Amino acid sequence: MSNQRVTFGSKLGVILATVGCAVGLGNIWRFPYMLGSNGGAAFLLVYLLCILLLGLPVMITEFFIGRHSHRNAAGAFKIMAPGTKWSIIGYNGVLAAFLILGFYSVVSGWTLEYIMQAFSGSLIGKSAADFKAEFTNFSSDALRPIIWTFVFIAMTHIIIVSGVKKGIERASKVMMPLLFLILIALCIRSVTLPNAGEGLTFLFKPDFSKITSSVVLSAMGQAFFSLSIGMGCLITYASYFKQDTNLQTTALQVTILDTLVAVLAGVMIFPAVFSFGIAPTAGPELVFITLPNVFEQLPMGWLWSAVFFILLALAALTSTISLHEVATAYVHEEYNVSRKRAAWFVSAGVLVFGVISSLSFGLLKEYTIGGMIFFDALDYLTAKIMLPLGGMLICIFVGTRIDRKILKAELTNEGTIPFLFFNTYAFFMKYIAPVAIGLIFLNESGLIHRIIELF
Ligand code: TRP
Repeated sequence: MSNQRVTFGSKLGVILATVGCAVGLGNIWRFPYMLGSNGGAAFLLVYLLCILLLGLPVMITEFFIGRHSHRNAAGAFKIMAPGTKWSIIGYNGVLAAFLILGFYSVVSGWTLEYIMQAFSGSLIGKSAADFKAEFTNFSSDALRPIIWTFVFIAMTHIIIVSGVKKGIERASKVMMPLLFLILIALCIRSVTLPNAGEGLTFLFKPDFSKITSSVVLSAMGQAFFSLSIGMGCLITYASYFKQDTNLQTTALQVTILDTLVAVLAGVMIFPAVFSFGIAPTAGPELVFITLPNVFEQLPMGWLWSAVFFILLALAALTSTISLHEVATAYVHEEYNVSRKRAAWFVSAGVLVFGVISSLSFGLLKEYTIGGMIFFDALDYLTAKIMLPLGGMLICIFVGTRIDRKILKAELTNEGTIPFLFFNTYAFFMKYIAPVAIGLIFLNESGLIHRIIELF
């Protein structure tokens, strides 16, 4: 079966598709709101450390597993460690894919509403307070956001059943560079607003007293979420990589681009947040209430907002495709049902989660889990628990079960390309990453604190 497996067409295709998977709402919607609610620049600092020390090693390790096994996230472990319990990593990933899509498709749906509003001109001529009120009105509505969530899941579904190569690759090639350009243009507008300096200070000048255990956990969760690691998404993608794809440079390029987009999103949002007097702690609505104010300051604002939200929707689409693919590939390959049927099953499941998380902003607001509405609970469970836990297990699996020679052979394409920092990578993957993730969990759970108090 591995011989017939489809692969990505070109080298550029590999990078763009993987960047497409990594870059999405996580960078432009989630990163700014997490940073805003977690103390600003201090969060950025911890985030960057997490990317470098945990994210990069985990990403390379996922690439290794995927291309080595040529299987989906769950099947990979069955091949590499038959008869063991390690495939639990894959099941954790498949479940995470459903849960992430459950709230991600709702936010993706919001972007569609904003495209419509941009074209109808209703994003122009209003005050910051109006934008906030309208967002609250819209997101708590019982029907409109659900229709958009449905539309978005349908779009993802269509691309998934039309095949890996055609769908994902073609889409990513055009969209990613365009998104990058418009982000830079919006950054320029934002930093030239009155009071922009305050926003830049918030973003770049760390106040170390703001670093708490929950800030560290949030930053780690954001790093995993943004890089699409910890749930086997990149295992599934790497299973489509060609034998001559350079896994190390691909990981490095994807990580750098993903981080760059997140930082640019910060530069686009925070000067505007301070300039328009919006609370940086606004939460999931932050980007949606801030950006319309920026568009108003531009000539032909409606056009800017339309183009921006179209690109944001497309960036979200390349990410929802990757999440859907994890679950679809799993159902298809492990249960021997056709790809089409597998995709139907996944889409239907996601729709159920999507409807409940959308309603949790309005009708179901009172029903909370651990003090969080359903939407926030899905986000918390996946980003802050399931992804880091998955990443930790992935590292422990490869660190303890895989012969170093096999690891090195795959990562150097059978010795045809060098891997300068192989030993450093292997050390971080085997020891630093799992221990650090474990400590961050313990720290947040308050256990470390209690142990220290004991002495
Ligand atoms: N990384 C994507 C974003 O930033 C979201 C995403 C796609 C994801 N695939 C994933 C997150 C797999 C976690 C795991 O928008």
